[in-house]
Amino acid sequence: MNPESHEWATSLPALHDQAWKRLRRGVADRRAAGRHPTLVTVDAEGGPQARTVVLRAADRKEATLRIYTDRHSDKVGEVQANPVAGLHFWDSAAHLQIRLQGDVTVFSGDSVRAVWEELSDHARDCYGRDPAPGNVLDEALDYRKWSDLAAFAVMELTIQWMDILHLGRHHRRARFERSDGWAGQWVVP
Ligand SMILES: Cc1cc2nc3c(=O)[nH]c(=O)nc-3n(C[C@H](O)[C@H](O)[C@H](O)COP(=O)(O)O)c2cc1C
Repeated sequence: MNPESHEWATSLPALHDQAWKRLRRGVADRRAAGRHPTLVTVDAEGGPQARTVVLRAADRKEATLRIYTDRHSDKVGEVQANPVAGLHFWDSAAHLQIRLQGDVTVFSGDSVRAVWEELSDHARDCYGRDPAPGNVLDEALDYRKWSDLAAFAVMELTIQWMDILHLGRHHRRARFERSDGWAGQWVVP
């Protein structure tokens, strides 16, 4: 698509709308670019840790996003120690990069039972490993997997800011913050 036809990139509210549209599409459509963001956390040494995840929920009213993970994975320990994370999206069809940062809450146990019950058997198989994720193995397949609600966690990011970059003939970049009601501010790309 011709980026010059992206009329929505020329106004702050329309750009913000478009970003949320792409996030919601990522939740609904497994082939959408918004499906597979990169989640970034800070590890115990203060270093960045980036990995691909699946976007599971996007609530514009609350400005929250959700991903599912194994409660015993390193990322959960990282956000429990330092409850902040970034997400990065590149939607090439929209010529749109979305970077955002949020405070993280991890839900597990009974509080995620209803979500767990909605998952397919195949999806549940991603949660439950012995030994736990990240442990060293002698052989690649020396681990057991089964579906275990006790290993399932939902990470919720309460977005504090979003940085949105549109690449067109004229590049445009804007920063949107919770603290000003997401009014948005153009910045130099
Ligand atoms: C396409 C793709 C989707 C993934 N989705 C998830 C996900 O939704 N949740 C998750 O915990 N890990 C997901 N992973 C695996 C993570 O990228 C990562 O390898 C794993 O969670 C361990 O990360 P950690 O050791 O930093 O916790 C996905 C990997 C790929 C390649």
